[in-house]
Amino acid sequence: MSTAPNWEKLRADFPILNQKVHGRPLIYFDNAATSQKPRAVIDALVHYYEHDNANVHRGIHELSNRSTMAFEAARARAAKFINANSADEIVFVRGTTEGINLVASSWGTKNLKSGDVILLTEMEHHSNLVPWQMLAQKTGAKIAYIPITGDEGVLDLSKLDSLLASQVKLLAMVHISNSLGTVNPVVELCARARKLGIVTLVDGAQSAGHRPVDVQAIGCDFFAFSGHKICGPTGIGVLWGRPEILDAMPPYQGGGEMILSVGYDKTEFKDAPHRFEAGTPDISGPIGLHAAMDYLDAIGRENIWRHDQELAHYTYEKLSALKNIRLFGPKLNSKDRAGLVSFLLKDVHAHDVVTLADQAGVALRGGHHCTQPLMHKLGVESTARASFYFYNAKDEVDRFVEVVKEIQKFFGQ
Ligand SMILES: Cc1ncc(COP(=O)(O)O)c(C=O)c1O
Repeated sequence: MSTAPNWEKLRADFPILNQKVHGRPLIYFDNAATSQKPRAVIDALVHYYEHDNANVHRGIHELSNRSTMAFEAARARAAKFINANSADEIVFVRGTTEGINLVASSWGTKNLKSGDVILLTEMEHHSNLVPWQMLAQKTGAKIAYIPITGDEGVLDLSKLDSLLASQVKLLAMVHISNSLGTVNPVVELCARARKLGIVTLVDGAQSAGHRPVDVQAIGCDFFAFSGHKICGPTGIGVLWGRPEILDAMPPYQGGGEMILSVGYDKTEFKDAPHRFEAGTPDISGPIGLHAAMDYLDAIGRENIWRHDQELAHYTYEKLSALKNIRLFGPKLNSKDRAGLVSFLLKDVHAHDVVTLADQAGVALRGGHHCTQPLMHKLGVESTARASFYFYNAKDEVDRFVEVVKEIQKFFGQ
């Protein structure tokens, strides 16, 4: 769809948005934590359980065939969603977190040794940080960080050449920061790493559902995202891996479904991606995710991106006109700002902002956003965050800004 979508009409696809919270119309600005689900996704889940539910890859009966076909169709759809070459490059996981843990545990344990370096950025979510720390402890590898530039929160690439030293084996980075809204130059960074033979992983939790994603154009080796942040169900996500790397990786977990044959002494494993999917998988998850991907692509992710950015710029501009406010992330109208704005009111804890906003029907998030090291770097404990999706509108931002002003007044500012 290249013409501008009818956003108001699309909003009506989300039953949950049509409610009052504490007597006020709900304004849902916590989309970076999880998105809401359109009727099409809810219906796909209900249809599956009412008509097709059976275990996959096992039975020969009709329901099992239908279930398997729907499960594998979702894998092919996920490949198309991120422009992978083949469905075999798609591993179903619980979410971004599990995707990264899988890579750390399987690829990392096999390929890293003492003295190797894992290069991250200072803005990583804990899920792209803790698995690497655990791997470093196990292997003796070290972790280094690409720094950020203070409150503006963009990567400082001035020392990249020296950071990309010969011991670096892996560069893992977030595509869009959930705390700052920064869009990182992943294409450039992957190209620089690739020239040096460094494997790259992109955390796409905040990007996959908000802008077009093409893993081949990004040039990474791994890309992970979560279904629940892109209008799909919780408990399902995707890990994409370059096939030659996936094929050489040992299994992550053992059990049913991932084997070719098992003896008392020895097991032969299936090829990727099935080798990484032990046990009965989440079956309804991929089916709901399939519906979500169809839904988003019917709107057009380039349209969603434009809409998200417009709301973020509008919000940033309105908030920056207030006194006693500190704003984080790329400056006004930066093309590198995604659809979220993090802020702090002077002498007011972020949790107080969020609690008072909730009383006014506005759902925000306050806390460290699973980026504690980043918060320490910025010299704060937490921020308040408004994060948008295509069903949000400017009049909601206007109301939100009024609520922020009321909170400031409450605190005598
Ligand atoms: C940037 C980023 N990475 C990773 C994650 C983890 O995603 P999940 O909890 O769905 O595994 C999140 C979730 O907030 C995120 O924002």
